[in-house]
Amino acid sequence: MSGQLADKVVLVTGGGSGIGRAIAEACAHEGAAVAVADIDAAGGAKTCELIVSAGGEASFISADVTIAVDVEAMVAATVATHGRIDCACNNAGVEGKVGTTTVDYEEADWDHVVNVDLKGVWLCMKYEIAEMLGQGAGAIVNTASVAGLVGLAGSSPYVASKHGVVGLTKTAALEFATKGVRVNAVCPGVIDTPLVDRILARSPEREQFYLDAQPIGRLGTPEEVAAATVWLCSDQASFVTGHAFPVDGGFVAR
Ligand SMILES: NC(=O)c1ccc[n+]([C@@H]2O[C@H](COP(=O)([O-])OP(=O)(O)OC[C@H]3O[C@@H](n4cnc5c(N)ncnc54)[C@H](O)[C@@H]3O)[C@@H](O)[C@H]2O)c1
Repeated sequence: MSGQLADKVVLVTGGGSGIGRAIAEACAHEGAAVAVADIDAAGGAKTCELIVSAGGEASFISADVTIAVDVEAMVAATVATHGRIDCACNNAGVEGKVGTTTVDYEEADWDHVVNVDLKGVWLCMKYEIAEMLGQGAGAIVNTASVAGLVGLAGSSPYVASKHGVVGLTKTAALEFATKGVRVNAVCPGVIDTPLVDRILARSPEREQFYLDAQPIGRLGTPEEVAAATVWLCSDQASFVTGHAFPVDGGFVAR
C-alpha cells in the first residue's frame, strides 16, 4: 500500500457517520487498515462497506465510548484484528440540546453530553495510549471543535466538553512527548453532517448564523476535516504535538 498512512492501523470512533466516516475513508485511501467503532452498527457497517468496496481494509467494532469495558474491548479488538494500533481518532460526539441556556439545561441532558464528548475521549485515550506505549509509538487525533476554543451561547455542556478535550489533548501530549506518542486535536467549524442537519431541523434560523460565523461563507465538508486529521496522524506531522488545529473557514480568526 502507498499513501500517507501506508501499512498503519487506525481506529476511528464515531466512524459510522459524518466526520468519522470521512476520516475512516480518507485513512483507508491513504493506505491504512481501519477499525471503525460506533454505537450505530448499521452506520459502522456502511462505512466498512464503502472502504472495502474501494479496495481498502476495514473492520467494525460495536462500542459505546462512555463505557470503560467497551473502550478497553474496542482497543483489544483493533489489535486482535489488525495486529497493532498506530493512530486513533477519537471523534464520537453528540451535540446536546442546542439553544438551551446554562440556566435551562436539565442535569441528565448535561451529563449525557459531557459523558460522550469529554469522558468518552478520556477513556479512549486511556486505553489507546497504554497500547501505544507498549509499541513505543502512536498518534492520537481528537475531534474537538471551535467550541473548544471560543464560547457558543446555548451549548454549555458541549462547549465545556470541547474545551476539556483541548485541555486533555495538551496534557496527554506533554505526558507522552518523549515516549513516541503524539496527541493533537482538530477543531472543526460548522461542517455539513447529520449532526448539523439535526440542529437545523429544530432551529432553521441558525443556518444564517453559521454562514455568517465562517468568513469563507459556507459550511465545511467532512472531507476537509478528514484531510487535516490524516495529516496529523501521519509521519508528516512528526514534530507536531499538543496542537488544537482549527479547520473552520476562519471562524476563530475574527
Ligand atoms: N458537524 C459539525 O459541525 C462539527 C463541528 C465541530 C465538531 N464536531 C465534532 O465532530 C464529531 C463528529 O460529529 P459529526 O458532525 O460527524 O456527527 P454525526 O452525528 O454525524 O456522527 C457522530 C457519530 O458518533 C456516534 N456516537 C455518538 N455517541 C456515541 C457513543 N457514546 N459511543 C460511540 N459512538 C457514538 C454516532 O452514532 C455517530 O455515528 C463530534 O465529536 C462533533 O462534536 C462536529
